[in-house]
Amino acid sequence: MIKNVLNGKEAYAVCLKEDFKAIGAIELKLNGHTDMTDRDDECEMGYWLGKPFWGRGIMPEAAREMLRHAFEDVGMTKVWCGYYDGNTKSKRVQEKVGFQFQWTTEGVDVPLMHEKRTGHVSAITKEEWLAKQ
Ligand SMILES: CC(C)(COP(=O)(O)OP(=O)(O)OC[C@H]1O[C@@H](n2cnc3c(N)ncnc32)[C@H](O)[C@@H]1OP(=O)(O)O)[C@@H](O)C(=O)NCCC(=O)NCCS
Repeated sequence: MIKNVLNGKEAYAVCLKEDFKAIGAIELKLNGHTDMTDRDDECEMGYWLGKPFWGRGIMPEAAREMLRHAFEDVGMTKVWCGYYDGNTKSKRVQEKVGFQFQWTTEGVDVPLMHEKRTGHVSAITKEEWLAKQ
């Protein structure tokens, strides 16, 4: 995943605070590396966590910090995110950190899996994020 997918300029390892071992990754996919926007002040958030670490609220914590980083450090005005139909864990992460549902698209190409799926798109603006702080 880290080598092939989450490998851009704004990609980070997700580490446990106890031992700093990498257990996942999170990325802001900048313009040119996402099909969700063609603006330089918008990006897409993507994330992945090793299965033994699911269900502890780790990715919501990482995603909250990445939103702060996106808006305060990188100068973003909007962050997009998405999940494929059925991935309720990812849907919950997005809801918990403040992403708002935008629309659903049928038959989205998933090149790495050589298949088509239904995709749900969400987003949060800097104003919406600031109002939650
Ligand atoms: C999506 C993902 C990042 C969630 O991270 P996480 O740190 O486990 O997030 P949370 O601990 O907040 O769990 C999210 C929700 O899933 C539920 N959940 C977690 N592990 C679960 C499990 N093994 N079985 C069922 N539900 C589970 C949690 O209860 C939580 O729901 P709730 O808030 O309603 O209680 C992680 O599952 C993952 O990496 N999945 C594979 C990659 C992926 O799907 N990436 C996102 C692509 S859009």
